[in-house]
Amino acid sequence: HWTAEEKQLITSLWSKVDVGVIGGEALACMLVTYPWTQRFFGDFGNLSSPAAILGNPRVKAHGKKVLTSFGDAIKGLDNIKETFAKLSELHCDKLHVDPENFKLLGNVLLIVLAGHFGKDFTPACHAAYQKLTNVVAHALSRRYH
Ligand code: HEM
Repeated sequence: HWTAEEKQLITSLWSKVDVGVIGGEALACMLVTYPWTQRFFGDFGNLSSPAAILGNPRVKAHGKKVLTSFGDAIKGLDNIKETFAKLSELHCDKLHVDPENFKLLGNVLLIVLAGHFGKDFTPACHAAYQKLTNVVAHALSRRYH
């Protein structure tokens, strides 16, 4: 269900993404903007202020992990469901993350990408990434369905 243009837009921007930087910022942005999500990261240490969250090395490391798995999705755009089957079990059965939160993380990721890439994050690119974050959120929520 991807057009050739969407695939091209997604992979060409992704080749410029530093998963460590963007991942850390996106996770931090979620934790600051939607503070109830902090509840899942109680053992991550100091999350007491936006500056503490942004500077927290565990937030950074975990954000990198999360964005690396987005990269796996991008490598196999036609089998995202399969790619996220195990992670869906983890987040649904074990962690009990409300699936609404997958969309929130997707949205802050778009904001962080826009902030980094500016004009290169074109409306067409935004739309392709919006679709990607929706598909990923859906794949992660699958165990709830
Ligand atoms: C763990 C991906 C959203 C909470 C993980 C891991 C990955 C991942 C790759 C590591 C799994 C492992 O170590 O085997 C994603 C992706 C998301 C997402 C792609 C996209 C939307 C969320 C959200 C929350 C969340 C929204 C909570 C609000 C957690 C927690 C862990 C975890 C608590 C375990 C952390 C730890 O203690 O190591 N996630 N995640 N995730 N995720 Fe997510």
